[in-house]
Amino acid sequence: MTSVFRDDILRGHVALITGGGTGICRGIARAYLAHGARVCVVSRRQEVIEAAAKDLSEETGGEAIGVAADVRQPEAIAAAVAATLERFGRLDTLVNGAAGNFLAPAAGLSSNGFRTVVDIDLCGTFNASKAAFEALQAAGQGLILNISATLHYHGTPLQIHASAAKAGVDAVTRNLAVEWGPLGIRVNAIAPGPIGDTEGMKRLAPGELGQRLAAQIPLRRYGTIAEIADAAVFLRSRAASYVTGAILVVDGGQAVTTVGFV
Ligand code: HXC
Repeated sequence: MTSVFRDDILRGHVALITGGGTGICRGIARAYLAHGARVCVVSRRQEVIEAAAKDLSEETGGEAIGVAADVRQPEAIAAAVAATLERFGRLDTLVNGAAGNFLAPAAGLSSNGFRTVVDIDLCGTFNASKAAFEALQAAGQGLILNISATLHYHGTPLQIHASAAKAGVDAVTRNLAVEWGPLGIRVNAIAPGPIGDTEGMKRLAPGELGQRLAAQIPLRRYGTIAEIADAAVFLRSRAASYVTGAILVVDGGQAVTTVGFV
């Protein structure tokens, strides 16, 4: 489908996108490239991320590189920022999308399981934000875009680890918006609801559970990766130049429904 945004709306921009090899963040990478940005996608496995960058470049005609790094390791994500600067000379946008998740009852979840998800989602967001800070400040109109969730707005069964991590991501979003706004960096988040064709939803709501979930969403369907990518283009664009500290919920109204009334 044709974009609602002008094709060159992100020309000159450079973005680093963690988790950009798959799912929602690959969709954001594709949209940024299609609108003129150059993009470094980051994920843990070298062969996966290199193949993703190649495919993204071919699909969009844009310039993408893939760098392997684990956001849990501050030096590794700092090296990915350095590689982006070396290749593209600047960094305007950091998308913190790397995330881990699985369904687990709290009583059966190990400390290490809890810590692993908090480490990836929350500490990874902090690590990458710090690593990108100087470059984003130097860019003059830097943006950090965190991929959050709506899990923690209520208690969500089997998701204590991811809910705690994403609540932390929201806190990081607001704190960095306050601290780094005066330095010219906007910090926002997108909180997607259930998005089809993602690893997350395949794991979290397989089969019939997924259909029941979709029937309870006010818009009566899952969202699409393209709908999250559109929100990410908007938040990067000049149309959002006065938006910071915001958590944009893109969930078909799921988080505002009352259970049992639909
Ligand atoms: C219980 C589990 C588990 C599971 C892992 N662990 N999977 N516990 N149930 N299914 C525990 C392990 O037993 C171990 O604890 C600890 O977690 C670390 O596991 P490792 O496999 O050693 O860690 P690692 O290789 O770093 O992998 C971490 C991972 C990751 C989180 C499991 O591989 C992963 O999730 N990959 C999928 C990525 C993904 O789905 N991303 C989309 C996220 S969607 P012990 O105690 O045994 O050592 C998302 C959206 C949320 O975030 C909102 C949706 C609406």
